[in-house]
Amino acid sequence: MTASHNLPKDRPTDDLCVLQITDPHLFADKDGQLLGVNTYNTLQQVIQLALDEFPLLDFVIVSGDLVHDHSAKGYKHLQELFSVLNVPIFCLPGNHDESHVMHLQLDSLACCVKRDFQLKNWSFVFLDSSIAGSEKGFLKPAELDALQHSLESHPLQHTMVVLHHQAIHVGSTWIDNMALTNQAELFTILDAYSQVRALVWGHIHQAFQHQRASLQLFGTPSTCVQFKPGEDKFQIDALAPGLRWFKLSADGRIESDVMRLHQLPENLQIGSIGY
Ligand SMILES: [Fe+2]
Repeated sequence: MTASHNLPKDRPTDDLCVLQITDPHLFADKDGQLLGVNTYNTLQQVIQLALDEFPLLDFVIVSGDLVHDHSAKGYKHLQELFSVLNVPIFCLPGNHDESHVMHLQLDSLACCVKRDFQLKNWSFVFLDSSIAGSEKGFLKPAELDALQHSLESHPLQHTMVVLHHQAIHVGSTWIDNMALTNQAELFTILDAYSQVRALVWGHIHQAFQHQRASLQLFGTPSTCVQFKPGEDKFQIDALAPGLRWFKLSADGRIESDVMRLHQLPENLQIGSIGY
């Protein structure tokens, strides 16, 4: 891994340790590849990193593009791989997921699709920004209503909101053309509730961090292929797969960083112009 974390082994019991593991792009075939990368193997390696480095893990968020080929089998692989962590795994769909297949397959108590979740002083809200047949994101009225309802219901909990698509542009034209399209509607709600501390997404396959008034925004590397930041056109970045960790304090403070595997995936097709 390229970065160590500063989560003490004997952290205060009211702190939370949460991981975001995103965009694994699994296939029905365990040998399936994305731009030369065996996505099953790289997810397995990232989960092993989580197992080695985060013994006091509370739960994991998997923020979309779980399966690349819409296969039911891909979701079964996901459940099997994550089962070694022995903590709850909360999943939400991305533009590559087939939402109804995902809901049907992720049925175990450990690996599930959930609207929101409260633990200690924190609340977590998981939104579905996927649109069938589109790479862009959109939060339907039902999603926005659910967000508002959750925020109304838990006013005293520090809150992290998670979705797949980036809610602000990250400075890369091609990927920003597939951002969340109703960003203003989302921020109108978030800005009205002072307990919201973090907004977190997948989709961009790169580390990203931004402060928007009191709200912290986070984007995260994929467990397979990385996209080079700041590029107008699709470009692969020569960085290893990784994850993001969050240390969430009882008083609402957030510490976070990304952590990566030691090595680039074998056979990564760095010069690819798209997928
Ligand atoms: Fe993705």
